[in-house]
Amino acid sequence: MRSKKTLTILIMVLVFSLLMMGCGKPNKNSGSNPNPAKPPVDQPAEPQEPEEPEEPALPTTTTARTAYPLSSADEDYLVLVNKKFHVTENYKADDLVTVTTCDPDVGNKETKMMRKTAADAFEVLAAASREDGYNIVMRTGYRSYNYQKSLFDSYAAKHGEAEANTYSAKPGQSEHQTGWCCDVGVRGRGLTSFNGSKEAEWIANNSWKYGFILRYPADKTDITGYIYESWHIRYVGLEVAAYMYENNLTLEEYLGMVD
Ligand code: DAL
Ligand code: ZN
Repeated sequence: MRSKKTLTILIMVLVFSLLMMGCGKPNKNSGSNPNPAKPPVDQPAEPQEPEEPEEPALPTTTTARTAYPLSSADEDYLVLVNKKFHVTENYKADDLVTVTTCDPDVGNKETKMMRKTAADAFEVLAAASREDGYNIVMRTGYRSYNYQKSLFDSYAAKHGEAEANTYSAKPGQSEHQTGWCCDVGVRGRGLTSFNGSKEAEWIANNSWKYGFILRYPADKTDITGYIYESWHIRYVGLEVAAYMYENNLTLEEYLGMVD
């Protein structure tokens, strides 16, 4: 009797165990893989914000031509003229126009000109200076080979050629002949008194906004070959002027033409 009861209990335990095995569900939180045939799959990463595209770098070299003679059709306002790269004697751009905001008592009809793009930019610069309370005018823009020759010769006669060449270019070596630059000042005031003036400070801080650079900075005389000229500005276009100003570069450095 007792063995029959024991057998009944054993059968019940066995049936219960079998029932429990059949009902087993994988525990969601256990970390076990519900489908062991497949390896565990990583959770997909959170979608990332697309990265801001980088600003395209401004050019550090240009296609500016540094070989001469220039052609009158050139629109190349990055052309380099210095003691090493010269302009031919008869070069004259064919789009020179008269600058309105100039000192009528300086130079002649021809020196009151600049190439059209530079002349237009200068008028905007001059108007901006007036808005800020300064009356900046152009003194000389374009200078022919012969005009530059007479200037240089007169300086050389006074101070000797070597000294003259620290502040005045020999004929063919002045970027004034390209029509892309000018000397600025205040009407009735001499050039050298422009150094240290409020107007010179305005030019140094603001001319880049109108596409001009200070061509002969005080701390780069060894590169430019000329002493500091607070009055000589050179048109290089808005983008390049901003870049050169921000990075404190001369035209030689910008063009990669430093010896
Ligand atoms: N004063 C500058 C260097 C020129 O004569 O062109
Ligand atoms: Zn000049």
